[in-house]
Amino acid sequence: MCGIVAYIGKQPAFPVILKGLKRLEYRGYDSSGIALFGDMVNTFKKKGRVAELEAWDEEIISEATVGIGHTRWATHGEPSDANAHPHSSNSGRLTLVHNGIIENYASLKQELVQKGYTFKSKTDTEVLVNFIEDIQINNNSTLEEAMRIALKRVVGAYVIIVMEEGFPNRLIAARKGSPLVIGVGEGEHFLASDASPIIEYTKKVIYVNDYELAIITPDEIILKNLGNETITPYIQQLDMELAQIEKGGFDHFMLKEIFDQPGSLTDCLRGRLDMENLTLTLAGVEEHMSVFSQAKRIIIVACGTSWHAGLVAEYMIETLCRIPVEVEYASEFRYRNPVVGEGDVLIAISQSGETADTLVAIEKAKEAGAFIFGVVNAVGSSIARLSHSGAYTHAGPEIGVASTKAFTAQLTVLAMMAIKIGREKKTITEAEYNRYLAELALIPEKVKAVLETHESIKEVAKHYADARDFLFLGRGYNFPVALEGALKLKEISYIHAEGYPAAEMKHGPIALVDENLPVLFIATKDAYYEKIVSNIQEIKARKGMVIAVISEGDTLIRGMADHVMVVPEVDELLAPLVSVIPTQILSYYIGVLRGLDVDKPRNLAKSVTVE
Ligand code: AGP
Repeated sequence: MCGIVAYIGKQPAFPVILKGLKRLEYRGYDSSGIALFGDMVNTFKKKGRVAELEAWDEEIISEATVGIGHTRWATHGEPSDANAHPHSSNSGRLTLVHNGIIENYASLKQELVQKGYTFKSKTDTEVLVNFIEDIQINNNSTLEEAMRIALKRVVGAYVIIVMEEGFPNRLIAARKGSPLVIGVGEGEHFLASDASPIIEYTKKVIYVNDYELAIITPDEIILKNLGNETITPYIQQLDMELAQIEKGGFDHFMLKEIFDQPGSLTDCLRGRLDMENLTLTLAGVEEHMSVFSQAKRIIIVACGTSWHAGLVAEYMIETLCRIPVEVEYASEFRYRNPVVGEGDVLIAISQSGETADTLVAIEKAKEAGAFIFGVVNAVGSSIARLSHSGAYTHAGPEIGVASTKAFTAQLTVLAMMAIKIGREKKTITEAEYNRYLAELALIPEKVKAVLETHESIKEVAKHYADARDFLFLGRGYNFPVALEGALKLKEISYIHAEGYPAAEMKHGPIALVDENLPVLFIATKDAYYEKIVSNIQEIKARKGMVIAVISEGDTLIRGMADHVMVVPEVDELLAPLVSVIPTQILSYYIGVLRGLDVDKPRNLAKSVTVE
């Protein structure tokens, strides 16, 4: 899950690539490098952030109008100058950048070592560039031909972009499993892992598919498959603005994206929820309504925050549609030989649309005959293209590694699906249908109201910024919110935080409670309210510090808790959409108070494209 950028054209390549890598740094940021093709290929790479590359020698970077760049999230070989990309072949004739994992690199390396190849790094990538070179030499073939042969023998995921000495005006790229977008310009072209490095230069893009090669010169883009057949490029128009990927005056992308939510939720509802005619339009569901209404069960696969959205959806769909739902960690589902097939609906939830485990889980279920419905944020991403149908969450680009606005947009799409299918199946009444639509329409405003309390949440954060551990508790629809709140705090503050169903406490975790342990309850007014009040008493009885997310006007829990964060009253089905907001803001401020990089937390990356 690295970030790759390349440029070929008429302007100096270095500044274009450097800026692009900074935009992609959320994909991986432990080391970086650039190779430029001036009179010859020059490479500069270092452990650390992209900004380190600004120290490169002016002399070299000035001329070159062709180059490749990389920002890394280490998989094979620890972050170091030697393991940073780009990597060159033993002869130095080939230089490439790579995003993905070559799973059979060890056996390939052995073959090459026996042939006398030597290696400066511990990476699978350096093995790949030498493997391609070896084929080129032995077959006396062109680079393109050698890449086709090599990539047929490679196991794993890759996007590679290769430069070859002697061919200063050509880049060759290939893709399988990892994302690659080409920005189409006039006499220049841009290549990147996603559109954010491209958007300021062109809105015309090509999403490269698996097993495709792209041969790129300043004036031409040729797409071919590994069978050497030429493919007509499908040029699409990007529907995002540069401003959407800038901080917009906020200190961090995470805070900007938290405050984006009234807008992103309105965008998610736009063209779908029509309060005038009391209609809900979700084309991807309508076109396949019989598949949903006759489904014997629904399986949801996802990872991380998206998995938490799946858990909320389980409550929503089972309650409104009376269809049994199973929520699966994609990483477990893909290896468990799951019982799945014809008649099953699999909902895959993903912000990036590129998460490797979710992708493979889909492939498995699809092969077995299940119907795949994608709930995805990144337009044109792999999961979107692999699904039979789907719904975009329209949350806009999410740059902060910690997912915030994508989560609430996912919940909104999943709620709309449950309401629509429930109405179709008549498992909810017309009155309930209309009431849920009315509640949905009020959500953006209610989220806005919570955001206006961010200063008071900041004060709460000051009390708990030095906590060593944290417990998050909730019941019903708010149980997944407790899990999500704990994940956010873990990601952003490195505090050990756990989420639990509140009633589970008595079965073990309550042993952790003492005067040093903050316990955060998601305790909005719902069917579980009385129960959660007694759970709070259990914690208070053991001197635990209680923070509670409560509904407006709740004086009972306000009187019991040490600190409260207040949200407007909402129907319990949609409560997670507002009750999660205070946990996002609290995590943000605790991370900032601990002096941490909240946009690029250690050891993480925005899109996990390797398993
Ligand atoms: C959430 O803050 C994390 N970035 C991570 O858990 C993320 O939700 C997970 O990797 C799934 O990503 P996806 O939604 O892009 O598939």
